[in-house]
Amino acid sequence: MSIVYDENTRSFHLKAGNSSYILQIHDENYLAHLYWGRKLKKFNTELLSLKRRGSFSPNPDPNNELLSLDTLPQEYPSYGTSDFRVPAYSVQLENGSTITDLRYDSHKIIKGKPKLENLPATYVENDDEADTLEIVLYDSLIGLKAILSYTAYEKYDAITRNVRFINSGNTKLKLLSALSTSVDFDNCTYDFMHLHGSWARERQIERTPLINGNQSVESRRGASSHQHNPFIALLSKDATEEHGDVYGFNLVYSGNFIAQAEVDQYKTTRVSIGINPFDFSWVLEPNETFQTPETVMVYSSNGIGEMSRTYHKLYRSRLCRGNFRDTTRPVLVNNWEATYFDFNAEKIENIASVAKELGIELFVLDDGWFGKRDNDDCSLGDWIADSKKLPEGLDDLANRINKLDLKFGLWFEPEMVSPDSDLYRSHPDWCLHVPDRRRTQARQQLILDLSREDVCEYIIRSVSDILSTVNVEYVKWDMNRNMTEIGSEYLPPERQRETAHRYILGLYKIYEKLTTNFPNILFEGCSGGGGRFDAGILYYMPQIWTSDDTDAVERLKIQYGTSIVYPISTMGSHVSAVPNHQVHRNTPLKMRGDVAMSGNFGYELDLTKFSEEEKEIVKNQVEEYKSLRELIQFGDMYRLISPFENDEAAWMVVSEDKTQAFVAYFRVLGTPNEPISKIYFRGLDPNKDYSIEGKEGVFSGDELMYAGLTIPDLEGDYQSITWVLKSTI
Ligand code: DGJ
Repeated sequence: MSIVYDENTRSFHLKAGNSSYILQIHDENYLAHLYWGRKLKKFNTELLSLKRRGSFSPNPDPNNELLSLDTLPQEYPSYGTSDFRVPAYSVQLENGSTITDLRYDSHKIIKGKPKLENLPATYVENDDEADTLEIVLYDSLIGLKAILSYTAYEKYDAITRNVRFINSGNTKLKLLSALSTSVDFDNCTYDFMHLHGSWARERQIERTPLINGNQSVESRRGASSHQHNPFIALLSKDATEEHGDVYGFNLVYSGNFIAQAEVDQYKTTRVSIGINPFDFSWVLEPNETFQTPETVMVYSSNGIGEMSRTYHKLYRSRLCRGNFRDTTRPVLVNNWEATYFDFNAEKIENIASVAKELGIELFVLDDGWFGKRDNDDCSLGDWIADSKKLPEGLDDLANRINKLDLKFGLWFEPEMVSPDSDLYRSHPDWCLHVPDRRRTQARQQLILDLSREDVCEYIIRSVSDILSTVNVEYVKWDMNRNMTEIGSEYLPPERQRETAHRYILGLYKIYEKLTTNFPNILFEGCSGGGGRFDAGILYYMPQIWTSDDTDAVERLKIQYGTSIVYPISTMGSHVSAVPNHQVHRNTPLKMRGDVAMSGNFGYELDLTKFSEEEKEIVKNQVEEYKSLRELIQFGDMYRLISPFENDEAAWMVVSEDKTQAFVAYFRVLGTPNEPISKIYFRGLDPNKDYSIEGKEGVFSGDELMYAGLTIPDLEGDYQSITWVLKSTI
């Protein structure tokens, strides 16, 4: 049993991998948080130390001066009854009051992990993999129930949490906020780590000391966003890649979120994460329920690297689903940066035939194949092949690609509508909008209102029509703007602030339907690159286009930052032309290939423009990637040198049995008369011997990790080296 309830102390001990998480039903039935960290064999309730405080931290029971909600570490704190810190939820009653009081009511411990209704979540394949604790909190005055659900994975240091609200009273309630998780830490000696960015510069790592007051990252864009990822971590001050305590929080959700850490007057820290309460509310009629998204909380006592590897393993095997979860991904070529909108069937076929020659396996036709789409001004929503560019139809093009013995993939942006489209002309009410206001366009497009059933049905139908008539084996699902004038014509006034969350629920419904109906199609998520690179999407689509920035130097940071939470097998990563289209930099084909290899490898350029010499290099890259992809996509990743702190970067992937490894080292700019520098490998078996491809001799694992390997002299800027290791015994 990984979850145990002790009657005497009224406490729950959740054991997840090598970690413990402990909570207790405290005085007055308030649910208190006692501990989260390294696994404890046993504990006593001294874990909870309380002090008498002054009148500014009131006592709910005048006879118990030690109990103050303002100081009690809590599992799911309320607002308004004397805890002045950030509440986990807030509810407005019909009488206008926002005071609620949730207390422990009952609990049950079950084997396995129940599915979340209509939301993505991690799962188990067998009930022995995890236990789930469900604690019912109840406000008897209004009949509000909050069921806190905790799953402790047996094998991973991971605990997942979510909350289900039930209105079991007989008056209407309005949720004003409903976070997924709140955890109180008994001190504030941590750093706050998160991933920020912008379009083409996603998931940059930032680490700052916790400050007094509230520190938060959030999205109000209707998507998890390029700007902030739904992830934060608290790190002990001494935490590095390999040492120290790390507490990660990742929300399995693709819409507006908030993730925050509040340091209070007594130097304790409250971390909370969930749907952003900003511009959100949800009406709960009697008997209605509201399900929050899931948080995946990972603890590591061995630094940031171990936290990442826990997320990677859990997400690869118990978040991603479908036929492609455990299979290696094809090497692809995508025509976006090769042609943009300017192509016809012949041009595409020419690129595809060179692709075949070079060993590439999949051709992806990007934007521009439908309606009258010669630029981004029109046609989104009209998912019918452009008869000017493809006079013989899409099916004919797919057949021509298949005849070359390549798979055919197709781009869609189904959540959008161009004002200049037949769809918009016939259904102007189908987009997100509010009465009498401008409908703000971005890239000349509006967003379809996925909170509406009929709109979701249209998307499922129009995409399915293509997928069931054309031999499409891969879909790139794009989404290129954020929400404005968020409102739905379909919802009553009191439910308008539900629109953004209902949109995400609609999106998940569409994904579920299409990925179930087309199980043999590999779906790749995309949102102007990595604008919706989150665990919610990964539940449906096992890979995501990491960024629209394909420059090899920029990608070092983007891929390194993304790997803090998300596994290599989820990152789309392509070699593009030089000068690079985003930053106009010239980098060698070797470095571009080496960077792209640490992901789902592909090319995004006009292959017909390659010289014979370049073709030879590419052929070798493709061959090498194919021989390594099983290791790269499913091995354990160790980050070695951070591009955020150096003019170089390095990482490696080690197979689970530690018999193989792939190491990649990158140096951005050359330096004169440079010092000798070494690279120290990680994750190898110290007792194994390894051969290194292209190098004489045999190296022991301990030597490579502790004594290191000298980095050979590199000439010029933008250099890279890769090493492939195989154990000799
Ligand atoms: C944004 C994507 O990220 C690109 O890869 C490309 O598909 C364009 N959209 C097409 O419009």
